[in-house]
Amino acid sequence: MSASSNTRQKMPADIVAMKGGAPIVCLTAYTTPIAKVVDPHCDLVLVGDSVGMVLHGLPSTLGVTMEMMVMHGQAVARGLQNALMVIDMPFGSYEESPQQAFANAAILMAETGAGAVKLEGGQHMAETIAFLVARGIPVMAHIGLTPQSVNTLGGYKVQGRGEDRARLIADARAVADAGAFSVVLEKVPQGLADQITAEIAIPTVGIGAGAGCDGQVLVVDDMLGLFTEFKPKFVKRFGALGEAADQAVSDYAAEVRARSFPGPEHVFADEVKK
Ligand code: KIV
Repeated sequence: MSASSNTRQKMPADIVAMKGGAPIVCLTAYTTPIAKVVDPHCDLVLVGDSVGMVLHGLPSTLGVTMEMMVMHGQAVARGLQNALMVIDMPFGSYEESPQQAFANAAILMAETGAGAVKLEGGQHMAETIAFLVARGIPVMAHIGLTPQSVNTLGGYKVQGRGEDRARLIADARAVADAGAFSVVLEKVPQGLADQITAEIAIPTVGIGAGAGCDGQVLVVDDMLGLFTEFKPKFVKRFGALGEAADQAVSDYAAEVRARSFPGPEHVFADEVKK
């Protein structure tokens, strides 16, 4: 049973229209089966570059390539009917110039059918966001903790505390003024996220930014309990699928070793009865 009665796939304008209303529900997805599970319940599905860490075992998102994003984007698109699909621009695919960003965003949109791209960065990415939006590419911005900048940020730290608060507010204003249709606030103190949400006209989608944002996003493998290498404070595990999978594989191994699987119902007779 679908949680949404919409008959067409959502567009960026539908997300903008949710500003200040019912919270925007967003999860990541990287594969067709998971896209099918999350689609009826989500307004927005993000093909995040977190795919590098949760599915490919990379130590950070820095090694994610355009080819990986295209492949996972195509897989997710096959599973969506309702939610807006947003695809991450990987590290190195957009920072050099607005022209580089356009060329790669166009590939991501054309080859996957995504309705928008997401890129990391505040004031310094405003020119690029405006360039993309003016050329028909809806952009979701991402400020606060921007994992692609983990090396210059000095780790996965909370952003916007103390003197850094003004920078975050300026980042939020800059991406909104540049034409982003929404902005992810990652690992930002709750009071600051509330202030930004009240000040800017576009929806804020929080991850580690409190319940006052216009919406929430989590990495799907985190909330399902499939990715268990580490658990950031902002993650709530709504399921324990990793444990369930471990139990299932353990049961399978035991039955194979005991020759109790396959059973009579799983085998084929030598002759078919007429
Ligand atoms: O890559 C990702 O999954 C993200 C979300 C955590 C917002 O950027």
